[in-house]
Amino acid sequence: MKKVVAIDGPSGAGKSTLAKLVARELGFDYLDTGALYRATAVFLVRQGLEENASDDDIASLLSGAKVEFRNGRVFVNGSDVSDEIRAPGASHYASVFSARLPVRKHLLDIQREAAVHADLVAEGRDMTTVVFPSAYKKIYLDASVGERTRRRATELAAKGFEADEQKVRTEIIERDARDSGRDLSPLKKADDAILIDSTGLRIDEVMKKVIEVVKE
Ligand code: DC
Repeated sequence: MKKVVAIDGPSGAGKSTLAKLVARELGFDYLDTGALYRATAVFLVRQGLEENASDDDIASLLSGAKVEFRNGRVFVNGSDVSDEIRAPGASHYASVFSARLPVRKHLLDIQREAAVHADLVAEGRDMTTVVFPSAYKKIYLDASVGERTRRRATELAAKGFEADEQKVRTEIIERDARDSGRDLSPLKKADDAILIDSTGLRIDEVMKKVIEVVKE
């Protein structure tokens, strides 16, 4: 395995923006694992699966699904679903299906393979704990619920989606509870991860802190 800078944290903490910038600064590849979970969930829903589908049904559909992250875009069986996975409903389904064993199994090797030939900045919920437990650097990026709500609402509005702050806040709290409360690979800070709280910080200020950690 090459060098991995692993970043975990809750939704809206700014992981994607940060990971992209850090990857560019270091000359590493970038992996958005949330995009893989979103694409997988969108695929399963498109195939007609309900949230309470059995593990067998999920596994059998996934056996015919090739999920890939390439140059910042995500593909399922060769078709680019990068825009579709950003629709509001996709966040919910990604959070629901990512708690299921066949989904996590299906994506584990795909994520690890990204670090076989290239140094990598990988972000998600279990980069530091499960996927890359011996990562070169580990960061847990957090921010207050209020700040994450504002960021998510701004992002949705910019894409032309409905962005009622109260609704967005409720969804963030629900998603935090599901992502942290599940049995499989829950979101949590690894003991050896450095905590960075981005509340009230500009992206360049967060970036500076991360680069300091990486260069330590
Ligand atoms: O980072 P994101 O909001 O795009 O992630 C969408 C969902 O995918 C998130 O609610 C939980 C899940 N996820 C996960 O379980 N493990 C990861 N490594 C990344 C995302």
